[in-house]
Amino acid sequence: MEQSKAGHTETGSAVSTVLSVLVDRLKEEHIELKKSISDLAVRAKAVKSEQDLGTASHELFQLRLHAMSFREKLEQHSAWEEEILFPFLSSYFDQSIKPSLLGSLWTLEKDHELGDDYLHSFLRTADEIKTVTDRKRMHAAADELIQACCILGKHLESEEQIVFPLTETVLVDMELLFCT
Ligand SMILES: [Fe+2]
Ligand SMILES: [Fe+2]
Repeated sequence: MEQSKAGHTETGSAVSTVLSVLVDRLKEEHIELKKSISDLAVRAKAVKSEQDLGTASHELFQLRLHAMSFREKLEQHSAWEEEILFPFLSSYFDQSIKPSLLGSLWTLEKDHELGDDYLHSFLRTADEIKTVTDRKRMHAAADELIQACCILGKHLESEEQIVFPLTETVLVDMELLFCT
C-alpha cells in the first residue's frame, strides 16, 4: 500500500514537473514573440506615415530581414507546440474533462497559418518593390505586415487563454494532492 502510494506520488510529481517546464517555455517564447510582433507592427505603421520615400524603402528592407527571422522563430515555436506541447496536453487531458478545449487549440493553429500567409505576402510584396518611388506597393507591404501582426498577436493571446487556466488548475490540484 505504502509502495503504491509512493509510486503514484512519483508519477504525479513527474507529470507536474513536465507540465511546469512546458508552460514556462510557452510563457517565455510568447513574451519574445509578442515583443517582436509589437516591434514589427510599430515599424510597419511608421513606414506608412513616412513622407520620405527613400527612408521608407530603406526601413522596409530592414523590416523584411526582421520579418524573415521572426517567421523562423515562429515556425520553430509552432513546431514545438504541435510536436510536444499539444500531444502532451492531449494525452493528459483526454481522460479528463476538457477534450473540446484541446480541440480548440488545434483549430487555433489555423489562425497561425493565416497570419503566416500574410507574413509571406508581405515578404513577397516588399521584394517586388523595385524603385523608391513605388509608394503604393510600400503601403501595401506595410498593410500586409500589420495584418499579420494583428492575427498572430491574437493567436498567441487565444492560446494563452486556453492553456494557462487549464494547466494552472492541474498544477494547483497536484500540489494539493502530493505536497500535503
Ligand atoms: Fe500556436
Ligand atoms: Fe504559441
